[in-house]
Amino acid sequence: MALKSISLTRKDYTESVFDEINKDPVIEVDVNDLTFTYNAKKGWAPVLKDVKLDIKGAQLVSILGPNGVGKSTFIHCMNKLLDPTSGSVMINDHLISDIPLKEMAKICGYVPYSSSDSFPLTVTDTILMGRHPHSKLGSLNDDLLIVKETMNLIGIEDLADRLFTELSAGQRQKVMLSRGLAQQPRILFLDEPTSNLDIKYQLEITRMLRRLSRERNMLVIMISHDINIAAKYSDNILILLDGGIFAIGKPEDVITEENIEKVYDVKVKVIKDNDRPHIIMVDEEELVEGGDFEVSID
Ligand SMILES: Nc1ncnc2c1ncn2[C@@H]1O[C@H](COP(=O)(O)OP(=O)(O)O)[C@@H](O)[C@H]1O
Ligand SMILES: [Mg+2]
Repeated sequence: MALKSISLTRKDYTESVFDEINKDPVIEVDVNDLTFTYNAKKGWAPVLKDVKLDIKGAQLVSILGPNGVGKSTFIHCMNKLLDPTSGSVMINDHLISDIPLKEMAKICGYVPYSSSDSFPLTVTDTILMGRHPHSKLGSLNDDLLIVKETMNLIGIEDLADRLFTELSAGQRQKVMLSRGLAQQPRILFLDEPTSNLDIKYQLEITRMLRRLSRERNMLVIMISHDINIAAKYSDNILILLDGGIFAIGKPEDVITEENIEKVYDVKVKVIKDNDRPHIIMVDEEELVEGGDFEVSID
């Protein structure tokens, strides 16, 4: 009897986590001493060690760092795709380990790095899958409206009836972005969302993510390899290195010549563009001059 009442209380509690978090005007992610090890039983070294982080408020945060440093792993620990080996993640004072997956899917959207494991669905149906955590009996028309609005926002209305599997890498990336936005989460995680896009869309999408963070009161956490675009639009940047956070803060404080050299092992010059740092790559090696290399269409 007592047990039953405990489980009922717990169910009531968990069913309202999304509503509770959504009502809160301030969104916050709190990472406490997070350690993550793949194959801990085989004695592998941890990818992330005692990471502490507090992100508060709807903003665009970029995660930078060299290949293989643990950026994707970190995001997976924050959106509950992976369980930390030790430590915890909280969203607005709720331990995510206590939040059911269906509630998590309403709170956190996720745009994965690659979408090769895809089904031959139309673009409309693929984006509609983003509405799945919210869908209720009779909500299909509303959901389709949101899908349409999102396609307009990203500029892919013309792809609506095309098969996802028959799209180019850049078009797929726009569809996956649309799916994440159609989910209308409080926190949107994106893993290199503009890696396949041309420069116009890299700028447009990153600028839009920043704007939507304000308009939708949404925290956007994005992994990026484009230091200049991240510096141009992010509210804050964090750089991962050696299992931990190497630097964190405003772009002008984090994107420095010393930091980039230490983290990426390349020499750069940092100039200011509208008060934002902008890196220029310096190549100290003398270039070998060649002969007359010509191209023409004659
Ligand atoms: N599923 C996995 N199993 C074992 N090791 C993994 C797995 N995924 C990633 N790793 C390893 O963990 C480290 C961090 O990977 P990842 O988080 O993908 O880095 P990043 O996103 O910064 O490039 C790398 O050394 C990678 O090889
Ligand atoms: Mg990655």
